[in-house]
Amino acid sequence: MADLESQISPLAAGNLRRERTSKCFVYLLAGFVIFLAALLFAVLVLRVKSPEIKLSFVTVKNLNDSSWPPSFNTTLAAEMTVKNPNLGYYEFEPSTVSFLYGGSRVGNSRLVKGEARGKKTARVSFGVDVRSNRLPEGPNTLANDIDSGMVRLSGSAVVSGRLTLWIINKSVTGKMDCTMTLVVKSKTIEGLVCRK
Ligand SMILES: *[C@@H]1O[C@H](CO)[C@@H](O)[C@H](O)[C@H]1NC(C)=O
Ligand SMILES: *[C@@H]1O[C@H](CO)[C@@H](O)[C@H](O)[C@H]1NC(C)=O
Ligand SMILES: *[C@@H]1O[C@H](CO)[C@@H](O)[C@H](O)[C@H]1NC(C)=O
Repeated sequence: MADLESQISPLAAGNLRRERTSKCFVYLLAGFVIFLAALLFAVLVLRVKSPEIKLSFVTVKNLNDSSWPPSFNTTLAAEMTVKNPNLGYYEFEPSTVSFLYGGSRVGNSRLVKGEARGKKTARVSFGVDVRSNRLPEGPNTLANDIDSGMVRLSGSAVVSGRLTLWIINKSVTGKMDCTMTLVVKSKTIEGLVCRK
């Protein structure tokens, strides 16, 4: 009985040691892989960017104006683009685009929901009625602007939605902020610029 120990050959002991060493190596490797995956995940989640929202065009379908009392009504046709700069799939909810004159809302339109695949752009077309009699009471520059024939308008919207990529499901919101000039004489929209 006492020499049971001595019966284990040096070769078997060596194998046992080698087995332990390789098991240890497998655990280390697994730990390293999990660490890398967590790091990659964190980087991807942290790097989710807001969608880029713009008006690609705005055209005048109809315009009536009067210099006294100063007033204008116009029907515009436009398109909003939602560019998804991320790799994942972006699904956005219905939003509202507002048109403002001197900071006050003169028209708005409810837009449909949509989706944009990774690195792709979604397009939403819409029409909007803009009426100056929606301006609040009080002094404004409308008489001047209609006289000069250049009416500065801005268009804004907030688009919210969810970005999904593998197990990532994150709420992502983008803002639109555009300015343009309604040229009364030619019944056109000029100088459309959207801030990034
Ligand atoms: C614009 O529409 C309003 C009614 O919504 C009307 O009272 C006004 O006279 C119109 N202005 C012009 C220039 O047609
Ligand atoms: C402009 O006036 C015409 C005729 O009165 C009317 O049919 C049209 O709807 C008006 N346009 C707007 C944008 O109010
Ligand atoms: C993402 O999460 C929201 C709720 O937080 C859920 O309504 C939606 O279905 C999820 N999307 C996916 C693709 O799992």
